[in-house]
Amino acid sequence: MNDTTFKRRKNITIALPKGRLLESVLPILTAAGLKPEDEFFDGKSRRLEFDTSDPDVGLIPVKPFDVATFVAFGSADLGLVGADVIHEFGYEEIYIPVDLGLGHCRLSVAATPEVASQPMEHLSHLRIATKYPNLTRNFFAQKGIQAECVKLNGAIELAPKLGLCPYIVDIVTTGNTLKANGLVEMETILEATSRLIVNRNSFKTKSERLGHWITAFQAAVDDKAKAA
Ligand code: PRP
Repeated sequence: MNDTTFKRRKNITIALPKGRLLESVLPILTAAGLKPEDEFFDGKSRRLEFDTSDPDVGLIPVKPFDVATFVAFGSADLGLVGADVIHEFGYEEIYIPVDLGLGHCRLSVAATPEVASQPMEHLSHLRIATKYPNLTRNFFAQKGIQAECVKLNGAIELAPKLGLCPYIVDIVTTGNTLKANGLVEMETILEATSRLIVNRNSFKTKSERLGHWITAFQAAVDDKAKAA
């Protein structure tokens, strides 16, 4: 971004994923030495930027898919996000120095038991509901199948039941959501954990500060692994 009128509140901005993932990454943030200000935990607050125990560092909690975008465009220097989201966008501006070892999940193809029992290999075209159209198209292209993706932003498991698409590609953690909606897992596209990501340009211009935080996150991950 070349807009010279743009002024950052903080030298370092970290994008965090809102929702379920936030709970799993907060202990690592704290262990790395960053305590969010109290209002960060107030669900009623309408603020979008928060201070931390380090006056140099601010936090922006955003939708998990947007963490990668804020970091890729340099609006945040660092981000905590799942490898599934990183691979879906494939931004070249992002460097991935630390595997946080959290949020283990997989991106899988699923369908009703009737559909899943039919071999896919003879098909040339499939309709699939997903939040991950790029990963889905690439996965099926390797099998010589053209995937027509219907982009949904949540509740993907409803699609087969309501006749939107016979197949879905979505995140599976425990498998409970698939089971509760009468779907079976067919194939795994990728296994994922949460990662620390860095904007490559920020890393060049703020190498000392960002290097400090990369080391702090890696140390927090290592300490957690030792304690387990
Ligand atoms: C995710 C994912 C699945 C579910 C899988 O949804 O999209 O629906 O978790 O978890 P499970 O295997 O442990 O049941 P999330 O709750 O993040 O909400 P979403 O439907 O808005 O994507």
